[in-house]
Amino acid sequence: MYTGLQHLHSYLAYLVLLGVVISLLSALAGLFGGKTFTDKNRKLGLLGLIPTHLQWVVGLILYFVSPLGLESASGEAMKNSVSRLYFLEHPLMMVLAVVLITVGYSRAKRQVGTTSGFKSIAIFYALGLILILSRIPWNAWPGN
Ligand code: HEM
Ligand code: HEM
Repeated sequence: MYTGLQHLHSYLAYLVLLGVVISLLSALAGLFGGKTFTDKNRKLGLLGLIPTHLQWVVGLILYFVSPLGLESASGEAMKNSVSRLYFLEHPLMMVLAVVLITVGYSRAKRQVGTTSGFKSIAIFYALGLILILSRIPWNAWPGN
């Protein structure tokens, strides 16, 4: 089960990046184009939200199954930047990113028919994307 989840988490990461970038770019286009946020634009926001939610459920399970997750947490592991990334920094920052992206979508959903939906998605998805990019284990991904 571990290997399957590890691969799933690794492949889903592409969908997360792709989805969040598409949502973000389309929100920026709407924002600077001064358009009204429609239900179609809300659905473009879902492109980023859905893979992100799936990924966080898979990541959470992985955290309890992987030898790099909770199992490796210790004072010693704290002193090693690679193990600290896996058991602490990556999970913490990713959860924070998921919360930001969810808040962005959730606000935008209630702003259909106004012009502010684009701004909610643009700001919160951009912050989430920065956190995600800052704590992807780039040494191990997308494979060596
Ligand atoms: C949007 C959210 C996330 C993204 C984009 C993401 C991305 C990644 C990537 C690219 C890897 C490296 C995979 C590889 O070695 O090929 C990884 C590993 C890992 N992630 Fe995430 N992740 C996310 C959320 C989470 C969350 C929320 C948790 C835990 C609560 C988590 C726990 C882990 C663990 C434990 C590993 C190491 C797996 C192993 O190789 O044993 N991830 N993640
Ligand atoms: C397989 C996993 C998941 C998928 C595919 C998924 C998918 C979705 C989708 C499609 C929405 C948007 C619904 C809408 O348009 O109103 C959503 C919203 C949301 N989800 Fe998830 N989700 C998953 C897991 C979770 C988990 C585990 C949690 C929390 C523990 C969570 C918390 C939320 C919250 C707070 C919202 C925002 C509700 C709002 O629109 O205000 N999701 N999710």
